Amino acid sequence: MTGMTRSILLIIGGGIAAYKSLELIRILKKRGIGVTAIMTKSAGEFVTPLSVASLSGNKVYGDLFSLTDEVEMGHIELSRAADLLVVAPATADLLAKMASGLANDLASTALLATDKPVLVAPAMNVRMWQHPATQRNIRTLRNDGIHFTGPVDGEMACGEFGPGRMAEPDDIANAVEALLSPAARPLAGRHVLVTAGPTREPIDPVRFISNHSSGKQGYAIASAAARLGARVTLVSGPVSLPPPAGVQLVPAMTAHSMLTAVEAALPADIAIFTAAVADWRVAEVAGEKLKKREDGSTPSLAFAENADILRTVASRRQGRPALVVGFAAETEKVIEHAQAKLARKGCDLIVANDVSAGNNVFGGDANTVHLVSAKGVESWPRLSKDEVAARLMATLAERL
Ligand code: CTP
Repeated sequence: MTGMTRSILLIIGGGIAAYKSLELIRILKKRGIGVTAIMTKSAGEFVTPLSVASLSGNKVYGDLFSLTDEVEMGHIELSRAADLLVVAPATADLLAKMASGLANDLASTALLATDKPVLVAPAMNVRMWQHPATQRNIRTLRNDGIHFTGPVDGEMACGEFGPGRMAEPDDIANAVEALLSPAARPLAGRHVLVTAGPTREPIDPVRFISNHSSGKQGYAIASAAARLGARVTLVSGPVSLPPPAGVQLVPAMTAHSMLTAVEAALPADIAIFTAAVADWRVAEVAGEKLKKREDGSTPSLAFAENADILRTVASRRQGRPALVVGFAAETEKVIEHAQAKLARKGCDLIVANDVSAGNNVFGGDANTVHLVSAKGVESWPRLSKDEVAARLMATLAERL
């Protein structure tokens, strides 16, 4: 505790679980956390503004009046005055609004206007939770850096059983405290540089050589670093992923342009190289499209070696990031090869990926990795790429 008062803006959605928000306010107040509340129109069907005001000790905001410009400014301030926004209960409707960036009432406007972390506690019928539209929205919101607590399995007010029940007020309060503690942002004030995706090496104006890298692991790492409070630069080859929230995206096409972008982004405290950089480029790129030949003969390509971006950065005398991390894709002797790579590249840590057949790493959502450094080897179980990212960033924040 810093002694400074911490406060949240609580957005109460319209669901039967809204009654638990009253208990949440009581618990938060007891733990010394200030609460200001916004109630959606339908929340008023479940709890009264008077109970919310009495428990929070603050004026309750709602959509009783249409938004004039002047008032709207007030709402933006409202969404930024708190240290954290908490949506409880977060209904399917509110989550959908957040995922699509709608701002047609006070609650959604505050959520769109905020520059603070947001925690949501979903609560809805199990079928609504499991609906592909809701699940799609959840993925979007996670990618935007929104934090989740629950839902949990349980009996619901509608009599059905399954996931969709709002987390208990005590658990939501714990999640609030974790997000408010300085320990939640160990990378505040740090710069993290991440490379991701494939590179494209041109053959002629319409053809190129590339690889299957999806960029998923790198994007997940950039997102995880931002969640820990870092300023993040993500130098990315061409991928079909939306840019993560709170991250500066710098597009790069060839290995050469990726190196230039990386050097321009330095200095950094941590540099993580997940990009699948082409080892070679076509030595002479044709200025015009290569045409089929009359005599049926085929062209041959001569290659030139690309700079190793990781090794270039790791061997800098001046302005070397304190932690330089490489990735290695191996199909056999994973640890041995990674140890050799660690030495050859001069980096501090190699995250060795087991990409042997059947692991479905490329383009897939899971990863089995081993952390190889001078300290030894740490093997992690098969985890989602998001989990690998979160664990890796937590480990790096600790080692920094
Ligand atoms: N890397 C890089 N620039 C290159 C090549 C690789 O920054 N021109 C980085 C990658 O981002 C990754 C690591 O180096 O962090 C991978 O090293 P690399 O030698 O390419 O290993 P593999 O791809 O695993 O291939 P190999 O086993 O053939 O060495």
